[in-house]
Formats: sequence, structure tokens, C-alpha cells
Amino acid sequence: MTYKYEYFIANWKMFGDFSSLKIINSVNNYINKIKSRKNKVIFCVPSTLVGHFSNRLKKSKIIIGAQNCHYLNEYGPHTGSINSKMIKSAGAKYVILGHSENRADGDTDNIINNKIKSAIKNNLVVIFCIGETLKQRKQKLTNKILSLQIDKGLKLVKNLKKIIISYEPIWSIGTGIIPAHKELTETISFIRNKLNKKFKKKHSVKIIYGGSVNAKNVRKLIAIQDISGFLIGGASQSGKKFIDIIKNCYM
Ligand code: 13P
Repeated sequence: MTYKYEYFIANWKMFGDFSSLKIINSVNNYINKIKSRKNKVIFCVPSTLVGHFSNRLKKSKIIIGAQNCHYLNEYGPHTGSINSKMIKSAGAKYVILGHSENRADGDTDNIINNKIKSAIKNNLVVIFCIGETLKQRKQKLTNKILSLQIDKGLKLVKNLKKIIISYEPIWSIGTGIIPAHKELTETISFIRNKLNKKFKKKHSVKIIYGGSVNAKNVRKLIAIQDISGFLIGGASQSGKKFIDIIKNCYM
């Protein structure tokens, strides 16, 4: 069995407690049956679960990630905050940064840029989310917005091996709506060209897609060139739904 898709990343958002490990265990049982060394199944869980789940899943193929971190690299007086060094030491290997839900809560491009640099310094792989609102898409501002988010978010970032770009149109998150084939193909190709131009050489930064991915629509999404996987919100909170998404990417 081979899968074209490399990344299946769960974004649990504000969901889960210790008992939710059973969801991940069911996915683990399934992926143990797949003979593919290339696929990466990553669960980005709330910070409260990163340490416990990392320990419990040490010997499995599942990778644990976090969903955010502070932009400062050192310890300091920031009540309630957790920095990249702390999530790394708890066992996270990946971290989601720039998610539109965190942007809505006040993360500016500059803050995101500092978070990305701090995460890379601490040897985490960054799942860097970019995406436009519906209004911006209707105003034909999508490319401009994505271009700015890339320029500002990746300012002075050199180690692209530590970056995965997740294109997440905000109007698609939690709505059940995914972009049309042509729309998504054009946007992914715009992101690829932008990266090639910005970093002045062809490189292999992976681009993934997020927004209402489910077992049904994933068949449409796998027809899009240059998408290396998916960032999955709601459907990742059920072992069955998540497994069905992976199954339906079977080539
Ligand atoms: P949904 O899959 O629930 O639309 O969430 C997508 C998302 O925000 C992934 O980061």
C-alpha cells in the first residue's frame, strides 16, 4: 500500500483530555498495518496533553505536536504562557503557528514571525498557516494577502527545512465548504511560485491544505497537484473519521 500523501496532521484545537488517547491509539493501530515509511501522522494536541501523550506514544509511529507557543525564547514573566523550548522539552516535534484562530485572538504577522524563529531555534518543525477571509477572496485579494503573510511570517527565516506551509482559507474552516478545484489549484500554484521567487531557488517546502477536510471531500482534494497532505480539525477528533480520510487517500 502506498499513499501519495505524506502528512496527515490533526489539529485538535480546544479538545481532549487524558482519555482521548484512545482516539490516537485507534489511529496508531490502523497505521501499523500500512507499509509506508513516508507518511507522517501528527497529532497537534492541547499543551496539557503534549507531555503525557508523547511519553505514552514514544514507541509508536504517531508524532505529537503542539498548537501554539510564545514568541520569546527564554523563560520570563508571562503568566499562562508556554514557549517553544517548553513544548519541545515536553515532547512536541511540530508546532502549528499563524492559525487564523490565533490571528483573530491577536497574533500579528510580526508576532508569528518571532514565534516561528523561536520554534526553529528549538528544533521544532513549524506548520505555518496562511489564508484569506471570504471578503478578501471576493475582492480578489487572496494572492496579495498570502504573499504578505509569507513575506512577514518568514522574514529572516533561513531554515526552510523546518517549515510546512498550510494553506487554510478562513471561509473553509469549520464550514463544510472547500475551494473549487480550479480555485485551489491556482492558489497552491501561486504559493509555490511565491516561495520560489522569495527564496530565489526551487526548493521542496511542503504545502498542505486545511479547512473542512473529511473522508468524502478528500477524494477531490487529492486531485490537486502539489499538496503534500492535510491539516484536519473537526474530523480529527474521531478516530474513525481520521482513519477514513487516510484510507481514502489510498492510491
Ligand atoms: P476544520 O477541519 O474543522 O475545518 O478545521 C480546519 C483547521 O482549522 C485546521 O487547522
